[in-house]
Amino acid sequence: MKRISAIVMAAGLGKRMRSKKAKVLHPVAGRPMVWYMASLARQVSDGSVVVVVGHQGDQVKAYLEQEKKTLDPLDIAFQSKQLGTGHAVQQAKSVLMPKGKSAAELCLILNGDTPLLTKATVERLLAHHRDTQAVVTILTTELTDPQGYGRVMRRAEGLVVKVVEDKDASPEERTNQEVNVGTYVVSTDFLFKALEKLKPNNAQGEYYLTDIIGIAVSQGLRVSGMKTMDSAECFGVNSREHLSFVEQVMRQRIRSQLLEAGVTMIDPNTTLIDDNVEIGQDTVLYPGVTIEGNSKIGCESVIRSHSRVSNSVIGDRVIIEDSSILEGALVEQGATIGPFARLRPGATVRSKAKVGNFVELKNVELGEGSKANHLSYLGDATIGKNVNIGAGTITCNYDGYKKERTVIEDGVFIGSDSSLVAPVTIGKGAVVGAGATVTKDVPAEALALSRSEQVNREGWAARRRAMYATDKASVTKKTSSPSPKRTSKPPTKKTQ
Ligand code: UD1
Ligand code: CA
Repeated sequence: MKRISAIVMAAGLGKRMRSKKAKVLHPVAGRPMVWYMASLARQVSDGSVVVVVGHQGDQVKAYLEQEKKTLDPLDIAFQSKQLGTGHAVQQAKSVLMPKGKSAAELCLILNGDTPLLTKATVERLLAHHRDTQAVVTILTTELTDPQGYGRVMRRAEGLVVKVVEDKDASPEERTNQEVNVGTYVVSTDFLFKALEKLKPNNAQGEYYLTDIIGIAVSQGLRVSGMKTMDSAECFGVNSREHLSFVEQVMRQRIRSQLLEAGVTMIDPNTTLIDDNVEIGQDTVLYPGVTIEGNSKIGCESVIRSHSRVSNSVIGDRVIIEDSSILEGALVEQGATIGPFARLRPGATVRSKAKVGNFVELKNVELGEGSKANHLSYLGDATIGKNVNIGAGTITCNYDGYKKERTVIEDGVFIGSDSSLVAPVTIGKGAVVGAGATVTKDVPAEALALSRSEQVNREGWAARRRAMYATDKASVTKKTSSPSPKRTSKPPTKKTQ
């Protein structure tokens, strides 16, 4: 028999969130709340983990399946009507009591909306359960404002006798500041027998899980409560206000871990880092930096103010200058990005390459040591090593119907303001003269020019200046006239 299986109750509507989205899908530091609960359950259990879904159950299930890598193995049970927490737990019975027998000795039950709860606290709760030889152990904490929570009633010697929901509590019971966190350890055998006995005789007409406490006590069984001093950890999210609080605490935790691990943050309060981000030692983050999703940043890199890195991998000693946006990009060691650069999905910047001001990259590889320093759009292209992309270069990758690729081989020099009309290949070492519109492949080592030859008209500018000077003089003379007429001809008459 396994030691511990777990249930996460995640079927509730979350009315007070005022949202079209199920409460447990609301993200905290980049991950839906339910992920934290399921992941915690998975980490402390050696048996099955069952997430009970209901409201928007298909979406919650789809999300959990997509996160298989971090949560597997995981079972999902449906609670079609949300009749209360006791009823929710019952939905896990077929998984946790196969053929009517307990699959694990203990069952850990978690509310789906307490994402700050830590593994250390849950482990302490499990130890407390064992040490006190209880049949049910609940996690409690003391709150100065306990409103909305179930109040924990204890006997003189300390054992728990019941939890009274806020809506059912008498004025005197409401003054009790010790609350039920919504984290329970229960002997599996006892749990499913007790659930059968629940009655919805309360203010909300629901089957309360907390009523199993009274059932245990009436059978002379022991119920203990472990009080934790860290009440922030116990915070249950019922509204957007709560969500914003939890978000801040979670972000602070993530920052503390990274600071501890050797990351510098010039202004931690404005630095937002998602839960699953990794950052190497001696990397420096400037104010207003956001790092989201599955991003990984190497060592000794610098990310300057107001840049956002999303689902991207950044190597060691990379410099990302101010106000750059990277999404789904790969940047290798020693490269420089920005300021004001935009790297879209599929952008790969090889080592020591440079992407400068107002340059946009999409689905493109910029080879080792290559440079695109100013004002360019490079999309659907493969660019080799040591290539220089002149200011204002555009890969014309779209003809209104389909996308085509541009290939620029090693050592190519593209002059400024060039348009490369894909599909097109610029051969190794070739030079494209500034202002070109390249529609045909350029052979290796060739020079491609595609602009009309320049014409110089000697003395033209001086003649024009002189002409306008006389014009102006005649106009100022006739100041009385309301609309002076032009007398001289434009300077285009004279030719080269
Ligand atoms: C619950 C506790 C309360 C405790 C508080 C801590 C009960 C009866 N009350 O109250 O003692 O102080 O949590 O935050 O348990 N859920 C379902 N199916 C349902 C109803 C709820 O899956 O039919 C899930 C919700 O999605 C949520 C969790 O159970 O994740 C708790 O439900 P919620 O309605 O938030 O309970 P509270 O009123 O906060
Ligand atoms: Ca709640």
